[in-house]
Amino acid sequence: GKVAVLMGGSSAEREVSLMSGTGVLQALRSRGVDAHAFDPSETDLIELKRGGYARCFIALHGRHGEDGTVQGALELLGIPYTGPGVMASSIAIDKIMTKRIWRFEGLSTPDWRLVSSAAETEQALQALGAPMIVKPSREGSTIGLTKVTSAEQCAKAYALASQYDPEVLCEQFIEGDETTCPVLGEGAAAQALPVIRIVAPEGNYDYQNKYFTDTTQYHCPSGLPAHEEAAIQRLVEKAFRALGCRGWARADIMIRASDRQPFLLEINTSPGMTGHSLVPMSARAAGLSYEELCVGILATASL
Ligand code: DAL
Ligand code: MG
Repeated sequence: GKVAVLMGGSSAEREVSLMSGTGVLQALRSRGVDAHAFDPSETDLIELKRGGYARCFIALHGRHGEDGTVQGALELLGIPYTGPGVMASSIAIDKIMTKRIWRFEGLSTPDWRLVSSAAETEQALQALGAPMIVKPSREGSTIGLTKVTSAEQCAKAYALASQYDPEVLCEQFIEGDETTCPVLGEGAAAQALPVIRIVAPEGNYDYQNKYFTDTTQYHCPSGLPAHEEAAIQRLVEKAFRALGCRGWARADIMIRASDRQPFLLEINTSPGMTGHSLVPMSARAAGLSYEELCVGILATASL
């Protein structure tokens, strides 16, 4: 039947989503899938029903796409969709909720404070120590994020993050190797793919370096010792299941330089699928082409 690739949307990551969706659409079509682009910010989702769509590939990022709202609408319409369901999506978009659950489950994630003013951001810096990351709780692609090293930077960092979300997260910065690891497969039995190690210019893996420059180095195979790679994969699978995820997702992990302990930062339940994106890179290392990956994700679509 017909497949809708949901892309665009109204979040701050709209531009990224259009790149992801265009890639997915081309890949599915090249494999004979009757796929069509569908932008929920332009057309009401109810038209999916009228248009006779059998399944949706969600290539939306951020709010009103990755946060359980579109997933809920598709549940009501009875149209199977890729990726985690309503609850897992709405928890995962919220980095603070996510960290609470991981902490409760004994999965390591950096210490944090939820703040609602510049003054509280300064207090958080005192409590957590420098450097500290200040970021909106429910945003992606490092939008609105600042690495703070002194009290003077707190007001500006808070003001920036709170432009995107009234919930601002202050998180201890973990100095070490930046890595990411996808999980893919049927339902909750999904398994980790190879780990990617990211080396960004001057350590700034920001929005620009994520999507628009070619100066970031990605290592996959990661070059990490086999036991560290395996430990990250098992941690990410636990992180995925703790939130009730299914289908696919990608978790970001820092490995602390001092003792090589991995720390979960967040899990993305509708990861980027652009030419620069990481899930396709990891899948390739596991022997899956971009096209095979897209078809494989679509096959996990469910209600
Ligand atoms: N939020 C972006 C799309 C990602 O995690 O890949
Ligand atoms: Mg993210």
